[in-house]
Amino acid sequence: MSDAYSARFPPGFLWGVSSASYQLEGAVAEDGRGESIWDRFCATPGKVRNGESGAVACDFYHRYGEDIELMKDLGVDAFRFSISWPRVLPAGRGRLNPRGFDFYDRLVDGLLDAGIEPFAVLYHWDLPQALEDEGGWPERATVEAFAEYTKVVAEHLGDRVSHWITHIEPWVVSWLGYGWGEHAPGRCSEVDALAAAHHVLLSHGRAVEVLRQVVPKAQVGITLNLDHLWPASDTDADRSAAHWLDGHHNRWFLGPLFHGAYPQDMVDQWHKIMPPVQDGDMESIAVPIDFLGVNYYTSSLVAAGLDGEGARQVPQAGTARTDMDWEIRPDGLREVLVRVARDYAPRTIYITENGAAFPDVVDHNGRVLDVERRDFLAAHVAAAAQAVEAKVPLRGYLVWALLDNFEWSWGYWRRFGIVHIDYPTQKRTPKASFYWYRDLIAAEHNGGPKSRL
Ligand code: FCB
Repeated sequence: MSDAYSARFPPGFLWGVSSASYQLEGAVAEDGRGESIWDRFCATPGKVRNGESGAVACDFYHRYGEDIELMKDLGVDAFRFSISWPRVLPAGRGRLNPRGFDFYDRLVDGLLDAGIEPFAVLYHWDLPQALEDEGGWPERATVEAFAEYTKVVAEHLGDRVSHWITHIEPWVVSWLGYGWGEHAPGRCSEVDALAAAHHVLLSHGRAVEVLRQVVPKAQVGITLNLDHLWPASDTDADRSAAHWLDGHHNRWFLGPLFHGAYPQDMVDQWHKIMPPVQDGDMESIAVPIDFLGVNYYTSSLVAAGLDGEGARQVPQAGTARTDMDWEIRPDGLREVLVRVARDYAPRTIYITENGAAFPDVVDHNGRVLDVERRDFLAAHVAAAAQAVEAKVPLRGYLVWALLDNFEWSWGYWRRFGIVHIDYPTQKRTPKASFYWYRDLIAAEHNGGPKSRL
């Protein structure tokens, strides 16, 4: 696909990079941080490749200054980071840890001094272990703990942070964490998965309410991982399989957030495992938000299961894949954006993650020529431009990730950064994709549109 685009991104369009606390901070036992479910999960044999963990990661806790310099050089408008809940409230609720807040103060001040807009995420998966011990996200009490946590963080950073994201990818939290055991806390229960999803959504609603009170001028949103699911053929069986998977991945979250209801076809199928929904919950979840964050990596073809039931994702012949084995489908990004704008009408959309893992190597000249990643990003920026042309209210694009980092159960094996990290020395080496992105941002700041070929 050509990476040239001719649409004009709207004035004030934000170009940025994203990160997550557990994936890059390290310093897990420093300055009073409490244990998170990811510390516990990584310490459990067999959960993470090579027994790796985020104990050191990119050592961002100490090297954030150097990394802000890298971002200045890159020319980004925005940096998305998450707050580690156990760093600021070590037991999840109650006692505050001032030294944890100091770190986020220094980070936010450093970003603002560099002219970079902080996008603060309240939850990117590192639940305090103390709360998991009390039942975690399947427990309704976790919703109130999240509201309390939101309040103290907003009181602390609200004078300087104007963009807030409550949650990243509730589907991953619920299904990978509680349904299928691939992520912390590693539970395998569909009942728990749906209860977790409901409480994550409800805690989003409560957090929006708290943020509106404490930081009335803030822009508040939530990020979902969305994909486009094409029926593999025109048969009724394949169409309904694709619709079902769309319900599982996308509509289960979009429906409550924008329409105040779970999709009825899914409720009918899942009636035996439905979460405990109380009066008023759906209204809370559907509280108006300022923007929807979309994380986009891949899309797929879906066919009915081999026995004619269920759904299976089928490989698309001739489609290139990333190191995660995910199909490269920039056309799916355009479809996702157009569909969400049409069916759910968020006021504003930001692409809050887009990127790819490839097996990068540092060459003899000390360079990383990550041509595949550069092409991946260029093709997705072009698809985003097409969505803008189709009148989607897209206002920003953030690359995942600035730095190579701890890729959850894959450990350090999968590299997503536009900056390479040599983990033993922590040396940062901007890859070719970094320089490509720097040029793109500079051109866009100078008014675009331009051909990037
Ligand atoms: C997303 C996560 C992010 C990173 C990328 C590759 O699902 O939000 O932390 O792991 O995938």
